[in-house]
Amino acid sequence: MNWGMKNRLSRIISPKTGRCVMLAVDHGYFQGPTTGLKDLAKTVSPLLDFADALMITRGALRNWIAPEMDKPIILRVSGGQSILKELSNEIITTSISDCIRINASSITCSVYIGSEFEKQTIGNLSKIVNEGENYGIPVLAVTAVGKEIARDARYLSLASRMCVELGAHMIKTYYCENFKKVVQACGNVPVVIAGGKKIEEKKALEMAYHAIKDGAAGVDMGRNIFQSDNPVGMIKAVRAIVHNKASVNEAFRIYKHT
Ligand code: R5P
Repeated sequence: MNWGMKNRLSRIISPKTGRCVMLAVDHGYFQGPTTGLKDLAKTVSPLLDFADALMITRGALRNWIAPEMDKPIILRVSGGQSILKELSNEIITTSISDCIRINASSITCSVYIGSEFEKQTIGNLSKIVNEGENYGIPVLAVTAVGKEIARDARYLSLASRMCVELGAHMIKTYYCENFKKVVQACGNVPVVIAGGKKIEEKKALEMAYHAIKDGAAGVDMGRNIFQSDNPVGMIKAVRAIVHNKASVNEAFRIYKHT
């Protein structure tokens, strides 16, 4: 791995612990003004201190985030679909020169294995891995799952391993039963979990806890943080699990008492 790639990766995943808490707020690229992100600046600013990296689009960055902020950016560079149409129909929307101009520490796109536009999304990932390799920018591959596909260890191992083989430097996938298998399928490539749809806070913390126990490097969580009734409490609780070996009950107390 070249120096720039390693340096950028180290800004996101702690080289000391191998762990990270990414805050995902890129949902608007196909969901528009999602609940909790209508005023993105207001939502994100109290959370930033507790995030190791911010996953976001270039438009959201330029509109709602001050360039003086010092958290590493994981830049969403794909889009092209909406919640009204086939979700797998993604293209790459952001040039590598704009990623560099933005000072992205990582770039990311989704891969829809088993969906209608599977090959197109594999092409998207391959393209950004090639560009990332050229400029020392690591790629986070997101295994997005079509509505009709079961999110089980067999499917998520297939999708995640394919992203590893295509050259992704980090994998973002969903937690599932037998999650260890998914982590093992990715070899030395760090795996983080998405939070998915909003669930009860304690259940989300349990999911994060089990993911870490099964070998995840951390989380890339959005709705279960910013749609919580206590987003700061929730990110602090998740952080305690990822970085400080907190139990679910300890983390839940942090959420309750923040
Ligand atoms: C979805 O494609 C986006 O990348 C989201 O940022 C991602 O799903 C993580 O957010 P959440 O924890 O809300 O699922």
